Amino acid sequence: MTFKDKTIIVTGAGGGMGKATVDLLLKAGANVVGCDLNTDALLEFEGKDNLMTCQGNLLEESTVQQIFKDAAERFGGIDGLANIAGIAQSATPIDEVSLSEFHKIMDINLTMTFLTCREASKYMKERIQGKIVNIGSVSTTRPRPGLQSYVASKGAVESFTKALALELAPDHINVNVLHPGPANTNMLGEFVKKGSDVEDGKKEIFERSVPLGKLLQPTDIASSIKFLLSDEANMITGIVLHVDGGRSI
Ligand SMILES: NC(=O)c1ccc[n+]([C@@H]2O[C@H](COP(=O)([O-])OP(=O)(O)OC[C@H]3O[C@@H](n4cnc5c(N)ncnc54)[C@H](O)[C@@H]3O)[C@@H](O)[C@H]2O)c1
Repeated sequence: MTFKDKTIIVTGAGGGMGKATVDLLLKAGANVVGCDLNTDALLEFEGKDNLMTCQGNLLEESTVQQIFKDAAERFGGIDGLANIAGIAQSATPIDEVSLSEFHKIMDINLTMTFLTCREASKYMKERIQGKIVNIGSVSTTRPRPGLQSYVASKGAVESFTKALALELAPDHINVNVLHPGPANTNMLGEFVKKGSDVEDGKKEIFERSVPLGKLLQPTDIASSIKFLLSDEANMITGIVLHVDGGRSI
């Protein structure tokens, strides 16, 4: 799988799965544009010619437009988008969820996906090629109590992805969604009910729910994202790929 001369935008690049994806893509020779609210985690890749980092809020339309413009100018086009940025919901009964919390989750997980996919499609249509991978969650298939807003946002990402796959197929743009299972990143602890012990929650709730018996590692997700962005996946579009250790069974 070579990514030489391919430019991939990675959102959520400062987080667990995002950083692992940036790392794998850089090693595969891609030009990588890593975007996040906080890009400190990417400092260890500093000095690499094929990495551009963009610190900013991807909910701002103008920020998203500027990132794609700068990336296309610097590297000559956009070949792929890995939409990894997102936020969790700490398990909360619906009658305790404020409207502003619900909107925040929908905005970050869904509206941001819309904004980045819309921008990517403009650049990809010009060259009649491209690959988009959106990150959903196994919770859309196997929901947990108290995560209603998060599950709704990720379910919408799945439907949006399928609709876009069909719409962009004539332009040879592949759009797929990957549903991770419980993965060992900072986010996992955020799904635990407020006030509960995070490490206990990770072990007792999440690890035990995975038939393969362990939490996913960020690299498990990154390698499947890399596959979906590669030429090996040229005829795959509109699929839901579960990378979850069997959690969705
Ligand atoms: N960790 C899990 O167990 C798990 C399970 C299923 C799905 N997911 C999904 O996988 C993706 C990655 O999760 P992770 O575990 O790496 O989480 P993470 O918290 O480590 O990374 C998420 C990143 O998104 C960034 N982000 C959030 N809002 C942003 C904004 N407005 N603009 C720019 N960047 C923003 C954060 O700064 C963070 O670095 C998320 O979409 C998450 O919902 C995670």
